Amino acid sequence: MSGPVAWITGASSGIGRAVALEMARNGWRVVASARRQDALDTLADEGPEGRITGMAVDVTDLEATRAAVERIEAETGPLDCAVLAAGTHIPTSADDFRPEDFRTLLDVNVMGVVHATAAVVPGFKARRAGHLVVVASVAGYRGLPSAAAYGATKAALINYTEALKFDLDAWGVKTQLVCPGFVRTPLTDRNPFPMPFLMEVEDAARAMVRGMTGDGFEITFPKRFTMLVRLVSRLPYALYFPLVRRGTKP
Ligand SMILES: NC(=O)c1ccc[n+]([C@@H]2O[C@H](COP(=O)([O-])OP(=O)(O)OC[C@H]3O[C@@H](n4cnc5c(N)ncnc54)[C@H](OP(=O)(O)O)[C@@H]3O)[C@@H](O)[C@H]2O)c1
Repeated sequence: MSGPVAWITGASSGIGRAVALEMARNGWRVVASARRQDALDTLADEGPEGRITGMAVDVTDLEATRAAVERIEAETGPLDCAVLAAGTHIPTSADDFRPEDFRTLLDVNVMGVVHATAAVVPGFKARRAGHLVVVASVAGYRGLPSAAAYGATKAALINYTEALKFDLDAWGVKTQLVCPGFVRTPLTDRNPFPMPFLMEVEDAARAMVRGMTGDGFEITFPKRFTMLVRLVSRLPYALYFPLVRRGTKP
C-alpha cells in the first residue's frame, strides 16, 4: 500500500472520523485512534479498501500513546501527519461548579494533545519533516457562557499550537491550528441551544483537509460564522459582554 501516513486521534466519531475517510479517499494511509476499537473497525470497513487501520488508545495515558505511535511507525511506516482531534465537552457553570469536570476536560482536550505531540514530535524532528494539526475551537477565542472549562482548554490549545510553531518551523515541521465553528457530531448533538451556521461533518472534513494542503496556520469553517466570532472576540469588554449575553440568551 503506497501513500503518505496519517495518524488521527478522535477518529471513532465526528470530525476525526470524517477527516479519516476524506484523507483515505485522497490517497493517505490512515491510522485511526480513539478508545473504542469496535467503532474504529467499523470505520476501517467503511473506508477505501485497506486504507484505514484502527488502533485504540486513550490519549490521557502518555505511555500508551507513545507505545501506539511506536507501533504505528513500526507497522505502517514513519508518520507524515498527525491530526489531533480527540476532545470532549462538558458544559460548566458557576451555579453547579464541579472541579472534576475541569479536570476531565483538561486531561482529554489539553493533556491528550500534549501526549500525542510528545509521541510524534521526536520522529518528525529526527526526519526534519512532518505535519502537526491541532483541533481547537472558536470557543477558545474568548470566554463564552457555559464554557468556562471547554473554552479554557481550547484557548490553551490555541496558545500551545502558536507557541510550538516557532520550534517546529525550525525543524521543517508544518504546524496548523483548526478552529471550527459548529459542526453536527455526537458532541454537538448534546447542545440544548440552536447552533448558528451548523455545518455537516462531511463538509467540515472537506474544508479541513483542503486547509491542510495550504500554507495558512489557522483553518476555520464555516467561514462566515468563524469570521463573525473572530470579529466579536476582538471587541473591548464593554461591548463584548452585552453583545454575547444578548446573542446567547435562551
Ligand atoms: N463539533 C463541533 O462543532 C466542534 C467545534 C469546534 C471544535 N470541535 C473539536 O473537534 C474535536 C472533535 O469533536 P467532535 O465534535 O467530532 O466530537 P465527537 O464526535 O464526540 O468525537 C470525539 C472523539 O474523541 C475521542 N476521544 C474522547 N476521549 C478520548 C480519549 N481519552 N482518548 C482517545 N480518544 C478520545 C472519541 O472517541 P472514543 O469515545 O472512542 O474515545 C471521539 O472519537 C474535539 O476536539 C472538539 O472539541 C468540535
